[in-house]
Amino acid sequence: MKKFPQGFFWGASTAAHQVEGANVHNDWWQAEERRCVKVASGAACKHYELYAQDFDLAKQLNHNCHRFSIEWSRIEPQEGNFSLEAIQHYRQVIADLKSKGLEPVVTLHHFTNPAWFSQKGGWTKFNLNKYFLRFVERIVGELAQDVRFWVTINEPLVYSSHAYFLGVWPPQERSLLKTVKVTLNLAETHIKAYRIIHRIYRQQALSRPMVSIAANLQAFEICRANFRNKLAAYLRNKLYNFYFIEKVLRKKTLDYIGVNYYSRNLVDVKSWKLADLLAQTCQDNHFPLPKNSLGWDIYPQGLYKLLLRLKRYGLAVLITENGICTDNDDLRWDYIRQHLEQLHRALAEGIEIWGYIYWSLIDNFEWDKGFTPCFGLVGVDYRNFKRTVRESAVKLAAVIKNNGI
Ligand code: BGC
Repeated sequence: MKKFPQGFFWGASTAAHQVEGANVHNDWWQAEERRCVKVASGAACKHYELYAQDFDLAKQLNHNCHRFSIEWSRIEPQEGNFSLEAIQHYRQVIADLKSKGLEPVVTLHHFTNPAWFSQKGGWTKFNLNKYFLRFVERIVGELAQDVRFWVTINEPLVYSSHAYFLGVWPPQERSLLKTVKVTLNLAETHIKAYRIIHRIYRQQALSRPMVSIAANLQAFEICRANFRNKLAAYLRNKLYNFYFIEKVLRKKTLDYIGVNYYSRNLVDVKSWKLADLLAQTCQDNHFPLPKNSLGWDIYPQGLYKLLLRLKRYGLAVLITENGICTDNDDLRWDYIRQHLEQLHRALAEGIEIWGYIYWSLIDNFEWDKGFTPCFGLVGVDYRNFKRTVRESAVKLAAVIKNNGI
């Protein structure tokens, strides 16, 4: 059996807007109301009410940690107006996790913003990050005693590109300039948030917190080994995978690296246009791989390669997301098993890995794709919110029990 280190974290992740339901004060909800996105999140999984039941399942499945996000728009539904009720809610969520032996890993920004913040211009305006930092100060001040692991911003580049370049997420803009501005602003904001969090722990005489981002890493592979493809893969790696990490690392503001890994991107570029160099993928089905229900290649060795590449930063890694949407639960288990094997390979190479957090604990609202992609270890029937534990979750539970595969 391939053993994982003692004290390895095993768990699953969720994000507020995708599971809680009725997040009426954020920009996604508003876009849903205006029908700018195809499907509305509505009651989502009713996790805001049913969290304790969901954590019971996580506990039954032997998880010992859980990642979730705090919805800023619930804490501060109107500018400057903090909801004590919402703060109390998340306090209870954390207490419930801890009572079940689940270490909380808490995300402070997972794609959604309070509507009032977006209306002012959101992340396109550098001076507005003070509002997010004020929220961080408040919520971390309240919860520091019970939380050690923080993720400031989930997938900053995925957010900036989907919301400001591809135009598929609110505010659905297509501007390279704004994409760059938002990305830089998020980096600046992370750096400041990191410092605020550390200061709060010092002021409260608590032991050092562990603060990071969750970086979305893709395996950029080339199908034809020509110069243009090599250059394109190099640029994409630099820009999409490592730019943000390196930028915030220069200010020493990562205590570990949170890694979200799903798939590969098969690079095949047919022109010298910058847009093609940065985004064109192989359409020739050169090396067909099994795919998830959104058509993403299943490519476990990519995780191993990226982990080796991260070694140079000398920081521990926490897999903050890895998962598959599929209606074939056998395929889900294959996906998990194969990724765990690659993780084990990386451990054997001396890479420090703290844990594996699957995306997601329960099926949920997959943003502009709606409710059809099923990523959950646990299925959700959206008619009655009934949960059903999948076989793959039970198999993972056995791995966790043995702390080995
Ligand atoms: C995001 C999640 C999303 C998942 C699957 C990640 O990029 O953090 O919110 O549901 O991928 O697409």
